[in-house]
Amino acid sequence: MSTIVGVCGSLRSASFNMMLLRALAAAAPAGTSVTIASIREIPLYDGDLEASAGIPEPVQRLKESIAKADGLLIVTPEYNNSMPGVLKNTIDWLSRPPADVQRVFNGRPVAVAGATPGLGGTRLSQAAWLPVIRTLGMLPWFGNLLMIPSAGKIFDASGTIVDEATRERARRFIEGFARFAATHSRSRPGADQ
Ligand code: FNR
Repeated sequence: MSTIVGVCGSLRSASFNMMLLRALAAAAPAGTSVTIASIREIPLYDGDLEASAGIPEPVQRLKESIAKADGLLIVTPEYNNSMPGVLKNTIDWLSRPPADVQRVFNGRPVAVAGATPGLGGTRLSQAAWLPVIRTLGMLPWFGNLLMIPSAGKIFDASGTIVDEATRERARRFIEGFARFAATHSRSRPGADQ
């Protein structure tokens, strides 16, 4: 069984990006499970807090689940043509202390997807994640783009993807990333740990 940890950069209860993450998790191929991790409990990064109390428990828990997973799926809104602060803040905490970056991120398969109610589809937000992914030494999957514009017409109120073509794109996306994550998993026999 391959495991993918999915994180969503929106805390909104009616978030289109959480709808997308849930749809991707539901469409994962047999043999792959996508676990959705909440970022709600992650505090704002504060170097003084880190120095006095160490890594907060919710951060440590998420670090360990990513370190055990075959891949990380980032589903990101776009804010002001970039990534949302809550998710960048999460990744910043996860990259502490620097000595753990190798164990948690380095060489780990990662994919990025996103949805907007407007026409942009998170193109600029997804591009903004690239330097972060590179800095952490992750292994990006570029097999398919999943940028969903006009999200209000694509999802119904329950979060189901009602647009047939988008549903198929989402299915192909998670299928392709699941295959990539399994093939390049750091847990596969012979992989560098
Ligand atoms: C936005 N939104 C937005 N949309 C976009 O396509 N490009 C952008 O640059 C921005 N900028 C932006 C900034 C801020 C502060 C907010 C709150 C919103 C709109 C955004 O795509 C919309 O609110 C989505 O619904 C957010 O994602 P969730 O919460 O639906 O997952």
